[in-house]
Amino acid sequence: MNHSSIIFSGPNALKCELVPYLIELGIDRVFMILDKILLEIHADTLYPLMDLLPKEHILLIEAGEEYKHLDQCQKVWRFFTESKVNRNDVVVNVGGGVLTDLGGFCASIYKRGISTINVPTTLMGMVDAAIGGKTAVDYLGVKNLLGAFHLPIAVCGDSSFLSTLTQKELLSGFGEIVKHSLLVGGDMWQRVIQFDPLYSDSEEWQYFVDLSMKYKEAVVKEDLYDNGLRKCLNLGHTIGHALESYFINSKSSFGTDRDLVSHGEAVIAGLIAELYMSNQLLGFPSDILHQLIYLAKENYAPLLFTCKEYDPLLKLMKQDKKNISKAVSYVGMRSLGEPVLLEVDDEELKNGLDFYREMLC
Ligand SMILES: NC(=O)c1ccc[n+]([C@@H]2O[C@H](COP(=O)([O-])OP(=O)(O)OC[C@H]3O[C@@H](n4cnc5c(N)ncnc54)[C@H](O)[C@@H]3O)[C@@H](O)[C@H]2O)c1
Repeated sequence: MNHSSIIFSGPNALKCELVPYLIELGIDRVFMILDKILLEIHADTLYPLMDLLPKEHILLIEAGEEYKHLDQCQKVWRFFTESKVNRNDVVVNVGGGVLTDLGGFCASIYKRGISTINVPTTLMGMVDAAIGGKTAVDYLGVKNLLGAFHLPIAVCGDSSFLSTLTQKELLSGFGEIVKHSLLVGGDMWQRVIQFDPLYSDSEEWQYFVDLSMKYKEAVVKEDLYDNGLRKCLNLGHTIGHALESYFINSKSSFGTDRDLVSHGEAVIAGLIAELYMSNQLLGFPSDILHQLIYLAKENYAPLLFTCKEYDPLLKLMKQDKKNISKAVSYVGMRSLGEPVLLEVDDEELKNGLDFYREMLC
């Protein structure tokens, strides 16, 4: 079975690569779900695509986490039904991670699955969410509870969309790029530690978008269903996810706005704590760990927490669906580009959290 997606990537990839591909497919087969907001802020970039499709083939919806639910899916399924979309047709999802997750999920269910193409418009979407076929919506307050694996036939990473993102959104996506750079190593790591995410233009971002998309795609091609190699993409996420969920749901003893913590910020904190554990357990090089700490101090505010909060954090890590036994599973690293799957105990996790606080807070 072919577990791969075509990757179109470049500053004008939508116009120069995706549009010719769709013309080849046959335009009457193509439908589009588009985040409403993009019509206002990226009309020029979208024009070659919008101009191609009949108006009635385009559904505009609101996107953002508060819309990632079944009511929004109903709108999409109604659109598919009323537009008589059939199994030979292709749906192009254009938007951030919420839209590509939701559009992909709707397509995976409708008539037992129709083809999708993702056009991510946020950095998080380009380097992570739009690739790899994990689709989902939130249900009963639980994030991504309903979902399916449904690989897009193509993904188009066009960095022209990045110019309108907030600093917070750029830094969130950058957290995943830093993770990929550790997993890829070599030149990508050298470039990431010299990169300034807040003063770079779309073309400078394109290098990281390209490499991240191709790296994730290659991993997914080997292990779509997350049984082996794909687990290495969880680097930094054992502690990162716990910090993200804990901060979103708890009040700070420091009076700061905890619920504003982004996924990428939490991943950066998780990477520091987990790579310190790798340094202790597997001899991960200290100089690379300190390069990562420098990058974090230059770009991210520290996440403030006390050791009194370790127990609820550990509880969250133990609930992680990646665990296979009662112990906490995590992705360790021997060196750049050398991930290893390990199980760790409470003491080791607390040492990682201690180290993060000593270095960053
Ligand atoms: N499927 C996966 O493997 C995977 C991986 C990572 C994240 N995700 C999911 O992705 C979602 C987060 O994605 P996200 O960070 O892209 O957030 P998002 O999709 O919520 O988008 C953030 C906001 O940016 C707006 N937006 C989109 N493109 C824009 C642009 N170019 N300029 C300005 N604003 C723009 C959106 O309307 C939204 O309000 C989460 O629901 C998460 O679960 C999925």
